[in-house]
Amino acid sequence: MYRSHNCGELRESHISQGVTLSGWVHKIRDKGFVAWVDLRDRYGITQLVFDEDRTSSELLEQARNLGREFVVQVRGEVIERASKNPNIPTGNIEVLVEEVVVLNESQTPPFTIEDETDGGEDIRMKYRYLDIRRNPVKDSLIFRSKVTMEVRKYLSEEGFIEVETPYLIKSTPEGARDFVVPSRMNEGQFYALPQSPQTFKQLLMVGGLDKYFQIVKCFRDEDLRADRQPEFTQIDCEMAFVEQEDILSAFEGLTKHLLHEIKGVDIETFPRMTYDEAMKRYGNDKPDIRFGMEFGELNDIAQHKAFNVFNSAELVVGIAVPGGNSFTRKEIDKLTDWVKRPQVGALGMVYCRSNDDGSFKSSVDKFYSQEDLSKWAERMGAKAGDLMCILSGEQNKVRAQLSALRMEMAERLGLRNPEEFAPLWVIDFPLLELDEETGHYHAMHHPFTSPKPGQLELLDSEPGAVRANAYDLVLNGNEIGGGSIRIHDKETQAVMFKHLGFTPEEAKAQFGFLMDAFQYGAPPHGGIAFGLDRLVAILGGQETIRDFIAFPKNNSGRDVMIDAPSPIDSAQLKELNLKIDL
Ligand code: AMO
Repeated sequence: MYRSHNCGELRESHISQGVTLSGWVHKIRDKGFVAWVDLRDRYGITQLVFDEDRTSSELLEQARNLGREFVVQVRGEVIERASKNPNIPTGNIEVLVEEVVVLNESQTPPFTIEDETDGGEDIRMKYRYLDIRRNPVKDSLIFRSKVTMEVRKYLSEEGFIEVETPYLIKSTPEGARDFVVPSRMNEGQFYALPQSPQTFKQLLMVGGLDKYFQIVKCFRDEDLRADRQPEFTQIDCEMAFVEQEDILSAFEGLTKHLLHEIKGVDIETFPRMTYDEAMKRYGNDKPDIRFGMEFGELNDIAQHKAFNVFNSAELVVGIAVPGGNSFTRKEIDKLTDWVKRPQVGALGMVYCRSNDDGSFKSSVDKFYSQEDLSKWAERMGAKAGDLMCILSGEQNKVRAQLSALRMEMAERLGLRNPEEFAPLWVIDFPLLELDEETGHYHAMHHPFTSPKPGQLELLDSEPGAVRANAYDLVLNGNEIGGGSIRIHDKETQAVMFKHLGFTPEEAKAQFGFLMDAFQYGAPPHGGIAFGLDRLVAILGGQETIRDFIAFPKNNSGRDVMIDAPSPIDSAQLKELNLKIDL
């Protein structure tokens, strides 16, 4: 038996018991006649004492030969500690060691296994297994497991069945590039790894399994960000005989359950907002509604004066930053530089101070009267002491720029409290989105999403105006889930493919199996997928999903620990019928 107890378990009630513990040597303190060793495992730390007088000098010598991260087994007696440590649960006791066995030695780790480590990001990624020994990483993985268990519990109790779908498939378009896998047995042919199980879950509905879920890996070859990994996990769901309302209520239920069980937070009902409203009020389809700073549109009150920048703009829009009047001129200049960075892309920023005496002081005073500026303040909801920040330009761009500024200000002002949870359904998304570069429309969600009833006809005349039965769940300004009611008849699906630029032959070649299935009694259906990594990160009070993934990829999509991707040898290339010119 390697252990009778774990390293986080022993208390005063165990005093004078004989115990066996196994774990890693965390720290050694040698006082000459006595040495203390902190023994660590997943559950905590227990202090071991090696005492020349009470045991033997050989044992003390053995303790001195231990090194950090050695794996050891000890047998001894639980005794009361002379100087107690109130900071750890085992702090009242220690184990007087009678026997120590080194199970495995360790090289000195390349960084300290402490909550605050001296190891940089790169080195910790390379030795991720050592990083996982640290509490913050270990706790994040345990937290993830807890959330995952709760998801499974809730959905199974609601009658969902978990079905696995294949990973070696044909491309499923979700808007990113596919990772492809060459087929050895089918020369010159490739599988694609699923960007999501979308088509399969729809086929399960045709198969009559009316409530499906799966906690599933998805693969997308896209640029990485803090909330994106090339392989990530979805809580993927689909239901038959449902309308949008049924899906929203089922997954509001799941989210409420998680908030309650995991965070002890109870939220009655989730607010809803249309996509159009979200864009108008927050310039963003995933607004963080934990704080205000809503957009105030100023076209009618700021244009037609002598200020040409505004006159020539499609949209003039601003926000009132609470307490921002305390910013110095230098700080405001810095803010202007911030919005002008290429990542944000604004051409400039107009500001207006809202003074305590009710007067205003703006950067464009020569064009606007106090009365004009007071109208601006009213639009933006600016109070005395606030700073109004106004951007102008082309609608879509300026909304995105102001949204970036709003989030930045909220971050700087500490308004994004990670322990406050503000879910929001964003509904009525556009069906199609114009690709500025190609001038073509593509599906905003995916090509299987159904337009709102009666809007199919609009596809010809006004494609951009068609709204879809598509919805996102937003939590604290992050898109944690998205879904839609699907098209379930062949004709409508064919119309959609046509509008997305597929010839009938292309549609048949790529999605013939789905269109065929629709001819055999496909029920009305719809679903949603949550990003598990994102959900877990946000519930854990963070926005970087990497910390909640055991073995994540770095920003270049590399696993630096196993060194992947990597070249394959020429024999393997040949076997796969792949020719690479180097
Ligand atoms: P969608 O593409 O919106 O929908 O994806 C669903 C959710 O998955 C998460 N997500 C990601 N998380 C981490 N890294 C990524 N690269 C990444 N990409 C997406 C997001 C997102 O909301 N098949 C549809 C769902 C449906 O219609 O039912 C789909 O995949 O949190």
